[in-house]
Amino acid sequence: MSLVYLNGEFKPIEEASVNVLDRGFIFGDGIYEVIPVFNRKIFRFDEHMRRLETSLNKIYMKSPVSSKELFSIFEQLINSMEEYDQSIYLHITRGVSDRDHDISIANEPTVFAMSRPIRKNNLYLGVKAITHDDIRWQYCDIKATTLLSSVLLRHKAKEEGSREAILVRDGFVTEGAASNIFIHLDDKIYTPPKTNHVLPGITRDLLIEILLDYKIPLKEEAISVDMLSSASEIWLTSSTWEIVPVVELNGNLVGEGNPGPLWKEVNILYQEFKRNYCN
Ligand SMILES: Cc1ncc(COP(=O)(O)O)c(C=O)c1O
Repeated sequence: MSLVYLNGEFKPIEEASVNVLDRGFIFGDGIYEVIPVFNRKIFRFDEHMRRLETSLNKIYMKSPVSSKELFSIFEQLINSMEEYDQSIYLHITRGVSDRDHDISIANEPTVFAMSRPIRKNNLYLGVKAITHDDIRWQYCDIKATTLLSSVLLRHKAKEEGSREAILVRDGFVTEGAASNIFIHLDDKIYTPPKTNHVLPGITRDLLIEILLDYKIPLKEEAISVDMLSSASEIWLTSSTWEIVPVVELNGNLVGEGNPGPLWKEVNILYQEFKRNYCN
């Protein structure tokens, strides 16, 4: 039977519940991680743990569980499921307190984790995207549970028959509502540099490592809206999506309107890396 973890206990999801005064529920006062599992092996665990630590520090929290404990919790969740490819969701809030913004009154964080199967849904065939103003806050480098703006952005994309909203701040692309972005333009790959307007994606970093290893020209440089609309390929990255080509942007074809040749090449390299890592 598949189990979830909540504050020290493993149980069926129907039996897991939190106090309504949990600050995660009241304020969205918490952070999270999504960690992929391929062939039942946790992918890039250390990198996810480093980002978790950074997110916690940035919201003035210390990790209530060590990485070693988390690894063991994740292993138990994975083992309670049949699927080979899963995605672990870890959610840490500041815990229960009186409804008061003051963070010093909360001292017992809530830790919740579950694992779910990864379903690919033909994403490798390419997706449609729209551009939209980046309506989010200034701390997008924190993987915060406060995701209302991203939920609305994904809804706006869906209303236009698209899967993702590519976000634009002051004329420059930041990232997708739940993904990082790469474009191919004039024989180079571009991705926006890490700033407070971009989540430091684990998949983004791995793709950069792969591009550099294979000497594929890469620039971590701001991408203007003009560059985006002239790109011959656009890719979105995330732990569960991996590398997904965008084939249509705001109703216009990207390149030939199919996954591009460079995406095919790079995706093979990425899949190879994954296979070796998760063997
Ligand atoms: C806003 C945002 N950017 C980027 C990403 C990709 O990050 P990762 O590759 O670590 O999954 C995500 C993932 O959910 C995200 O929500």
